[in-house]
Amino acid sequence: MKKVVITGGFSYTGSAVAQELLRRGWQVHTLTNRTTPPECESISAAPLCFEREHLRRELAGADLFINTYWIRIPWGGQTFDTAVDNSKLLLGAAKDVGVDRVVHVSVSNAAQGTNLGYYAGKDRVEAFVRAEFDNYAIVRPTLVVGPNDVLSNNIVWFLRRFPFFPVPDGGGYRLQPITLADTARIIVDAGESKDNQQIDAAGPDVMSFREYLLVLQKACGVRRWMPAVPGWLSLLILKPIELLLRDIVLTKEELLGLKQELLVSKQVPLGTASVEEWLMENGGTMGCAYVNDLRRHFGRDSARPVLTGNAAGQNQDGSDGAAPPGAGI
Ligand SMILES: NC(=O)c1ccc[n+]([C@@H]2O[C@H](COP(=O)([O-])OP(=O)(O)OC[C@H]3O[C@@H](n4cnc5c(N)ncnc54)[C@H](OP(=O)(O)O)[C@@H]3O)[C@@H](O)[C@H]2O)c1
Repeated sequence: MKKVVITGGFSYTGSAVAQELLRRGWQVHTLTNRTTPPECESISAAPLCFEREHLRRELAGADLFINTYWIRIPWGGQTFDTAVDNSKLLLGAAKDVGVDRVVHVSVSNAAQGTNLGYYAGKDRVEAFVRAEFDNYAIVRPTLVVGPNDVLSNNIVWFLRRFPFFPVPDGGGYRLQPITLADTARIIVDAGESKDNQQIDAAGPDVMSFREYLLVLQKACGVRRWMPAVPGWLSLLILKPIELLLRDIVLTKEELLGLKQELLVSKQVPLGTASVEEWLMENGGTMGCAYVNDLRRHFGRDSARPVLTGNAAGQNQDGSDGAAPPGAGI
């Protein structure tokens, strides 16, 4: 049986990828700081800590390494520079012990977003992968939509609770979301390929942010007034809400990335499932609880699994697959 090591096997994207790997017969070992959900006991786990000897030990004997590690927000002493260093440590350890193939999960248009810390860091790690490995794939998702995600779930949370939704700069800028299940399939396909690849994980439909908000409204059964407001004002409006939520809802850089249309792919889309259809099927359970991202990664939820094993974006049971209430406020 072929062995894969993956970061974040009980987190968001990694959890869906781990389930897809199991379905395809891989032996899965994950590096994560979350506890193993009961239905994931076939996945072995070790701490995700950035110590070279530890990483070498955990990666030894793997045929494939899938790296999903990254940070969304610089916080608690972590910066995008430390995320770059940690990524290089992880990938370097895989190289040291001779892992056959590496799949690195990056972000769409990393090279076009180098005015933004998140994208600039991703671009540096992509360059490292290209320089250090002979057998690799770089997979670049746009916006991954699935159970218990942060952005779409929390937009719906706002839509459910407030009579209006101020749209930064009118929302004419476009995005190309992809379902979590399609993302997992593309990442595992990349792992099983033998070619060096740099591919986007993007869905079949491109829409403006305003159109996306309309889809989310339809999915959760509300109609809200959506006034256009200057971007700076939307961030200002969010400040007191963020203080109350004790979270960072949207950063200035994330808004700039949206406006630069970095979540739109320039490749033929590999995602086949309609995100709109997924949202229509799952909108009823979205946004019922706020997903507190700081708590998920730095606070009391940082050891809880993000998704239950059967979720993985497939939702065969029709549930949202989210961890039980408590992940949000
Ligand atoms: N979600 C999206 O819409 C999206 C879009 C484009 C690109 N991506 C990329 O896809 C990959 C997976 O994203 P995701 O949203 O699914 O991420 P995630 O599940 O939140 O985290 C992925 C991995 O990074 C680790 N991690 C995250 N924040 C951390 C922190 N502050 N300190 C230490 N470790 C941390 C997690 O550790 P634990 O295992 O302990 O949780 C997990 O192993 C990332 O490289 C991301 O940049 C995601």
